[in-house]
Formats: sequence, C-alpha cells, structure tokens
Amino acid sequence: MGKLRKLIAPDNLHIDFSPSPKQYELWKLLQPECPLCGGFIQQQLIGHDQNNNPQYKPFCGKCGNHNIPQLILGGGAAGGGKSYLASVWLVSSCIRFGEIRAVVARKTLKSLKESTWNTIRMVIKRWGLVEDVHYRVNNIAGTLRFWNDSVILMLDMADQPSDPNFERFGSMEATICAVDEVSEISQKAIEVLFSRLRWRTHETFMVSKMLLTTNPTTNWVRGRFVQDDNGDRVTCREGEFYVPFSVFDNPDIGFRQTYEAALNKISDQATKERLLYGNWDFVEANDMAIYGKFDGSKHLITGLKEKVYDPTRPLITVWDFNVAPQMSVLLAQVDYENKKLYIIEEILAQLQRNMYANPLFFKPYLFLAFCVGTTDFSIRRWWCSFDCVSSKWYGVVSEDSI
Ligand SMILES: Nc1ncnc2c1ncn2[C@@H]1O[C@H](COP(=O)(O)OP(=O)(O)O)[C@@H](O)[C@H]1O
Ligand SMILES: [Mg+2]
Repeated sequence: MGKLRKLIAPDNLHIDFSPSPKQYELWKLLQPECPLCGGFIQQQLIGHDQNNNPQYKPFCGKCGNHNIPQLILGGGAAGGGKSYLASVWLVSSCIRFGEIRAVVARKTLKSLKESTWNTIRMVIKRWGLVEDVHYRVNNIAGTLRFWNDSVILMLDMADQPSDPNFERFGSMEATICAVDEVSEISQKAIEVLFSRLRWRTHETFMVSKMLLTTNPTTNWVRGRFVQDDNGDRVTCREGEFYVPFSVFDNPDIGFRQTYEAALNKISDQATKERLLYGNWDFVEANDMAIYGKFDGSKHLITGLKEKVYDPTRPLITVWDFNVAPQMSVLLAQVDYENKKLYIIEEILAQLQRNMYANPLFFKPYLFLAFCVGTTDFSIRRWWCSFDCVSSKWYGVVSEDSI
C-alpha cells in the first residue's frame, strides 16, 4: 500500500543541522547565493566565440564577485564531517527546490551504499521525514524521491575499460552532485560528469555545482586543489575552491574525542599524519620499503644542510633516472664515525612538456644511449638521463623495443 500512496509534504519540517565553522565555510560555497555577500548570481555576456555564439560568465549582481564556486573540494583529515555535510547539502537542496536531480557518487555502488547513502538516509530520518509518506526509496534504481519530485540518484564512477569516455554519463542530466572519496576517481570522470550538471540549473543554482570530498591523497586532486609537487600551495582556478578539514572540525565533541583516540592508535606515522591532521605531504610506503622505520617527524630536519654539510668530506650524488614525474639527484654525505647518512639536497629535473608527447624525440636519444653504453660520460645534457648504464638496460634497450 505504502508504495502506491502519493507522497505528501511534511507539516512541520524540523531541520537540525548545527555546522562547525569549517562546515559552515563549505556550506556557503555550496549555496546558490554569492558566498561573499549572499547576493543573487546572474550571467553576464562576455563576448562571442568563433561561431558567433554568445558566451556568458556568472557573477554576483550585488557585489560584482566573479569567482562563483562551482567545483569545491572539502579535503583533509578523517572524521571532520565532510561526508555528513555532503549529505545535508543534497537533502536540503532537494527540499528547497522541486524537481531537481542531485547525484551522490562514489567509485562503486557497493561502497556508496555502505557509506554516504546510509548517512543520507540517517539525515532524512533525523529531520523527521517518513519513508513512503514524504519520500520513497528505490534500491534497484538507486534513487530516493521526495514528495516534490526532487530526487537523489546514486552513481558509480569507476573507470571501465569498456567505457573510456564515460558515455554512460551521457544520458543523464543532473542539477548538483557530491562525490565522496574523490581520490578513488579519475579526473576525466569528474570533468565528464561536471559537464552533465545542467538540469534546472538556471531555475536553481545558476551555475553547475559539484562537491568533492576526500582524505589527503597524492594524486591529481592534490595537484589541482591543494599543493604542487614541491609542496607549494596552488592557486585554485576560477570557480574552484578548497576547504581543509581536520578531525577537530567535527562539531560533535564526543565523536571527536573517541575518534581522535582511535586515530592516535595508528602506528604508521604517514597514515596518522594523513587521517588525524589532514597532512597532504605524506608518502605512501609498503612493507618492501628499505627505510621502513622512516618517520618524517623524526628524520626530516629543517636547515640540515647548514647544520651538517662538511666541505672536507666527499659529496655523494645519487641519480634516479625517472621520466615521470621527475628525474632526481640526491646529494648526500656520510658521517662514518657516527654512522649517519645525511641527505642534504634533492634536485629534480623535468622534461619539457612537449617532449613527452613526441616519441620520435625519445628514439634517437635512447638509441644513442644504447650505443654509448657505460663509458662515455661526455653526454652531460639532461637527455643523458637515458644513458642508462646498468647491464640489464644495456641488453634490453634497442631501437625497436621502444
Ligand atoms: N554538523 C553535524 N551534526 C551532527 N553530526 C555530525 C555533524 N558533522 C559530522 N557529524 C557526524 O560526525 C561523524 C563523522 O563525520 P563524516 O562526515 O563521516 O566525516 P568525514 O567524511 O570527514 O570523514 C558522522 O557520524 C557524522 O554523522
Ligand atoms: Mg567521509
């Protein structure tokens, strides 16, 4: 019976959401209004493309702000309340606007059902909405439909070899989207999905809006929103924002205390840095790591060169002939008396971007390196990194094996 009954609007909707200051900062970026002044967003004609089609750019009609949030990353430590805020945003937007489509996405439907989908259902229940009275869930279609015909849709975003261009998103149109644990998802999948955010956009948010959440990771998410490979803060592109979270940003004190205690039990320092403090500088290691006990807080020393460099000792250079992301050379000195190895400096070099794209460029130099072998060190330009001298390479590399 319940399944057939027409859904009705709730009488006294009680929305109980007390955000932490960090959650509120993210919340403002997700609303249809200008995050700076609360003004309405409008579209401004900025010119025409080569086919004479008009081109528009969003701006705030009240304060003139042009940096209107569209792609927003809530990232950092676990337990800060990122997924919770994503759920609250999707549900409250569906309640505020009728007939919108809000997508909630993760790499797989299984992981989505076990995590954020549950949080969404918990939020709805907490706010006093009753299943089959105010909303209806269809587990097979992966939808949650409200009385006003707004719907939350589940989506899996894993790369599939049979669908390299994400044609499966092609048939869908949505209004807003929240992607949880975005570090598991490719940049291309995000960009294709972002291009599908156009359903009733003009009547609601005025711009496509997508929220991404993740714990710290070392992939494209970090490079685009947080910091470059040198650890320097990146300037986000126009319309893109990053809001850092730590566990201390969770408004629930009880949760914070117990969860913090649990995270403190983690013995792997890198994981602890990542999950407890939201540190993006960690390096992933496994059991095969030679320096398995390496602990950044102990072994990374500021100003080491000034403290320990000894001009009377030999300077050892360690060359790593990588192509991507960089080639590196370490400068090291050994203090034999105290049994210490100091890594004093790391020098990184990168091929010019257009060189990567040109396989013809690689061939002659690899071939040259092959001919030159181990003996001729006169080739001292950067491409000499292909002058790989190990006997293994010497036997493998040839013109046609590239
Ligand atoms: N504003 C809030 N009000 C009530 N509970 C909250 C709030 N923010 C977070 N929580 C609770 O804190 C816990 C952790 O939040 P979660 O969003 O899962 O963290 P994260 O995704 O950052 O790891 C969840 O159980 C969630 O329900
Ligand atoms: Mg989460």
